[in-house]
Amino acid sequence: MRLQWNSEYSVSIDEIDNQHKELFARINDLDSAIKKGKSIGELTKVIDFLEQYIIYHFGTEEKTMVDHGYPGFQLHKKKHLWFNNEFAAMKGKLENEGPTPDLIMLVNHLLISWFSNHIRTIDRLLGSFIRGTRTDQGRAEAADGTKQTLHE
Ligand SMILES: [Fe+2]
Repeated sequence: MRLQWNSEYSVSIDEIDNQHKELFARINDLDSAIKKGKSIGELTKVIDFLEQYIIYHFGTEEKTMVDHGYPGFQLHKKKHLWFNNEFAAMKGKLENEGPTPDLIMLVNHLLISWFSNHIRTIDRLLGSFIRGTRTDQGRAEAADGTKQTLHE
């Protein structure tokens, strides 16, 4: 399974949409590297490259939330922290065990499914808040997002 960006993923903030496109490319690169049977050393490089981008990207989103006084900031940030912990565990598994079938499942679940869902729900709420700071609709959607559970 590969990630392919389309308008369903648009959060209507160009900077964040562009970062999501880059993120998808890097996740797909990791997926391909695993499928091509690359060595642990090579896979570690790809995963480090992806990790750096995720840190940068979450930083952009969190700064955007703070700058706009976004009410869903704490919840959204908790989701990023949850992801970071899972990612660190995945990286440890790769370094210790190599690209086992288990790791392939983790990549599918954590990177492909999680990002795909996160962008289409949580990130889009941020986009609708920023777009809708002028409308009641945007405020209502953003407020609703703060009621969601912390787990995916
Ligand atoms: Fe996010």
